[in-house]
Amino acid sequence: MTANAKQQDRTKAMATGDRAILPEGARTVPIYIMGRRYDVPETLTIMKAMEYAGFKFIRGAGCRGGICGACSTVYRKAGNYKLQVGLACQTVVEPDMYLAQIPFYPANRATYDFKKILAKPEEIFKLYPELLRCVACNSCTKACPMDVQVMDYVSALLQGNIEKAARLSFDCIQCGLCASRCMGELPQYHIAQLARRIYGSMIMPRAAHVAKRVKEVESGKYDAMLKQLKKVAREELKKLYSSREREPDTAALGEWMPKDKTYV
Ligand code: FES
Repeated sequence: MTANAKQQDRTKAMATGDRAILPEGARTVPIYIMGRRYDVPETLTIMKAMEYAGFKFIRGAGCRGGICGACSTVYRKAGNYKLQVGLACQTVVEPDMYLAQIPFYPANRATYDFKKILAKPEEIFKLYPELLRCVACNSCTKACPMDVQVMDYVSALLQGNIEKAARLSFDCIQCGLCASRCMGELPQYHIAQLARRIYGSMIMPRAAHVAKRVKEVESGKYDAMLKQLKKVAREELKKLYSSREREPDTAALGEWMPKDKTYV
């Protein structure tokens, strides 16, 4: 093949995957995956478009629902100098999108014996001294596909407020895109995870209702009921399960009560 022919071949539209059957009426758009053009249905997410184009995810995909953080992607849009980031399972393709998957973003993760950690911000500074390198540029927040206020939780930690950092970072899915854009080279998502661990196990007030229920279980309150349920035939059990009294989705928090309060 001549160099010219090779060049033409590289820009040829391709769709080679076993899902390469265009849904009726679907329009296609060109996208570029690691530099090569593929024409894919315009309604697909990046993940589905890549599969449509013949790529197979062995890594870099998990829940497919925007929760596990495995599918970080970087891309550029035509005519825009800005590097964009997103989750491949949630971001819909756009014409002339140039993209590549980040299967894993290497970031420093401290090793520690959690049993020896104290609920003090100094503990976090000791394990992650790079925290003090934050220049408050906010690139981390802009990169977050979950709209977590990353810079704000870093600032909260710098002010010694572990609870605030834990609460602000609650929606983090550990995709690592914040760290990929950080000029201070902070591993924000690992730092926030430590803050949440400290908050959850040492600072947050214990849930009294859970302790009460554990005591009830230990005292044998539910033993007779469980014994009886174990004797019920499978089909009957299914019926019981599907006809059970359930809290309505729209019930106000803490206000709903079942009619049968025997085990409440
Ligand atoms: S595959 Fe889990 S967030 Fe995309």
